[in-house]
Amino acid sequence: MCGIIGGICRNNITPILIDGLKKLEYRGYDSAGIIVLTKNNKFNRSRSVGKINNLEQKIKNKKTTFESKIGIAHNRWATHGEPSNRNAHPHICNNVISVVHNGIIENFAKLKAKQKKKGYKFTSDTDTEVIVHEIHEYLQSEKNLVKAVQKAVKNFEGSYGIGVISNQYPNQVVAVKNNSPLIIGIGKDGNFIASDQMALINVTKKFIYLKDGDIANIGIDSISIFDKNCNPIKRQTKISKLKSGQISLGNYKHYMQKEIFEQPQAIQDTLESRITKKSVLASAFGYQAEKIFSKIKHIQIIACGTSYNAGLVAKYWLEGIAKISTNVEVASEYRYRNPIIFDDTLFIFISQSGETADTLAAIKTVKKLDKKIYTLSICNCAESSLTRESKLTFLTHAGPEIGVASTKAFTTQLASLALLTVVIGKCHNKISKQQEAKIVDGLNKLPGLISKTLKQEEQIKQLAKTFKNKFNAIFIGRGSMHAIAMEGALKLKEISYIHAEAYPAGELKHGPIALIDKDTPVIAIAPKNDLLDKLKSNLQEVKSRGSKMIVFEDEKSQITKMQNMTIIPTTTNLGVITAPIIFTIPLQLLSYHVALIKKTNVDQPRNLAKSVTVE
Ligand code: F6R
Repeated sequence: MCGIIGGICRNNITPILIDGLKKLEYRGYDSAGIIVLTKNNKFNRSRSVGKINNLEQKIKNKKTTFESKIGIAHNRWATHGEPSNRNAHPHICNNVISVVHNGIIENFAKLKAKQKKKGYKFTSDTDTEVIVHEIHEYLQSEKNLVKAVQKAVKNFEGSYGIGVISNQYPNQVVAVKNNSPLIIGIGKDGNFIASDQMALINVTKKFIYLKDGDIANIGIDSISIFDKNCNPIKRQTKISKLKSGQISLGNYKHYMQKEIFEQPQAIQDTLESRITKKSVLASAFGYQAEKIFSKIKHIQIIACGTSYNAGLVAKYWLEGIAKISTNVEVASEYRYRNPIIFDDTLFIFISQSGETADTLAAIKTVKKLDKKIYTLSICNCAESSLTRESKLTFLTHAGPEIGVASTKAFTTQLASLALLTVVIGKCHNKISKQQEAKIVDGLNKLPGLISKTLKQEEQIKQLAKTFKNKFNAIFIGRGSMHAIAMEGALKLKEISYIHAEAYPAGELKHGPIALIDKDTPVIAIAPKNDLLDKLKSNLQEVKSRGSKMIVFEDEKSQITKMQNMTIIPTTTNLGVITAPIIFTIPLQLLSYHVALIKKTNVDQPRNLAKSVTVE
């Protein structure tokens, strides 16, 4: 998490850095800071707690000028040390070097003790401050900023994307990447670094995606890249397809709202050129996909948060339709245990950002195993670290997702996993042509069905009012709808701060039912399927405890209205693949409108960040 930006250019860099910080705000928003070199090579720094607007205002109110051609800036998501001015980046050492950092220096305590002995003074509680002192120390002997940075980073354990400037070297910005995202933007009037291309899209569309271990030396008209031993290396320049309009709010109040309403298009874009009227194209997963999928005997899905919930839905499809044994696990657990891994396992990593530290660590771990395994990532960011690590990649074409709460990324992940189920099922002769045609027909109808479901917004908005004084909620569903209930509960808790839990409906009686009272609404998802009668019985159990119930049902489910129950006919006659995707929509709308009522910061909920690039 945290976002960094920096650069050197012919014009004033400060507006570029501030604009970039705003675009990076999704990565962290508890404090921010900027440092530039003034004409007489003095550091001018400003730091502020809270949003970028606070920092911008502070700069405007400062007597000293921030007009400069070189600078670095930072958005913070606190790990070591509370959000405060003193802990905000950039950090400075002896008025010579300044650093911004995204990541964690795990061995900072040891380095700090060593540096303290050498007389370095610490002015913050952050792990980052050891970076700036370490570089300063090497600069005394090396007299070369790139070499000093290169020597210093050899002593760091952990993850880092770092930007460095020095008043002794006023014509260069040095950047290093290791397990944290970092890109170089090549502009007409200068060159830049940032955690993500979105931060620089108003300045350039030409980018270099650095690899782990790369060190870059950036001047106004020059870019040199070195490996960890300072040998020059070449990295490809790529032209981004991102448009600046894609990341503006348009007529929407929040990015989350915009992204919920973009889902019909996002699904259509994800399916485009990957399906015909009746079938799924196996080549969509890469030219080797069919060969690999035919060999696999097991699937292990690894992901975090919402992406993990998408994996849980896919387990029902992959086992139920493609008939292949599938496990799903959160990356933060998987990476640290010693799981039993069979040869011919396909590892599927699901991630919106492709930069989630735990998911990346998991893929790196499994790739080191002495086993016959294959890797596939399902990801929304083409040039992410995850796509670079995996053998096969399938891109969800959701477009940039800015709201911290994931919405369109989730439904496009589900659409992608549906395609995968069909392709694997075909490779194993488990799906007939008719079955495939039926699934594809459902997928083709999805954009229209989602648009129809979105029309229920007004009704859901009214329903959301009943949550005004609620502090707990329970979501229930059976089969793959349990995973959708989990996603609904995750959305509600992360943006409205209501404590929400999800249970398989049949599990309530084994404990959670004790939580149910008149102040704990129960939200049930009721598609018309084989488990509907079981769910109806579970609703009776809830009714007897006096809870308010909200049921999103298939019109054909015909749930009998009971006291304290609101029934929302959401859709009708859906198949196993389309149902989970469609039932997600009202849950997203519900959490969005409850958050509005609770007056929380919808797009940037407390304590969260969009891209979790730290452990
Ligand atoms: C929840 C949410 C998070 C992410 C999780 C994984 O709305 O957005 O739970 O899903 O941090 O992120 P990615 O998918 O980028 O790996």
